[in-house]
Amino acid sequence: MAEDLSIITGSKEDQYQSLVPQIKGLLEGENDLVANLANTVAALKEQFGWLWVGFYVVKNNELVVGPFQGPVACTRIRKGKGVCGTSWAEAKTIIVPDVEKFPGHIACSSLSKSEIVVPVIRNDEVVAVLDVDSEDLDQFDPTDQRYLEEIVNLISF
Ligand code: SME
Repeated sequence: MAEDLSIITGSKEDQYQSLVPQIKGLLEGENDLVANLANTVAALKEQFGWLWVGFYVVKNNELVVGPFQGPVACTRIRKGKGVCGTSWAEAKTIIVPDVEKFPGHIACSSLSKSEIVVPVIRNDEVVAVLDVDSEDLDQFDPTDQRYLEEIVNLISF
């Protein structure tokens, strides 16, 4: 059974450094994908309080919303569409400081102002993306990229 994760204080770097082993612990010994995606987004949402944190999973050549925390979101996204579909098509992390300036951004919530999308790559293929949205502008930087990439790599797909 999982124990409660306590909220970590300190710099963003400090927070991620403590959170990564906690997420590792949550995932250890469990191979159910939905359970692992759900606990990962819950841990991130609890720690950072972002507006929306969730996975979109590639199914039949579309992204389909998976476990998430936050407001109701668009269910399906096609390759190349929005920030998520672009991250999938390009197989790379995308940081968007101001969503209004990203051509084709898909606004699931009008409250979202900045965003980071991290692809989950297995055997050279994108199998899912992790999407994080903030209510504030310019909330994501290379520190988020580095640790969120590390976190998605802990999950077995
Ligand atoms: N903004 C994303 C869509 C997903 S929601 O933000 C949860 C995009 O442009 O791909």
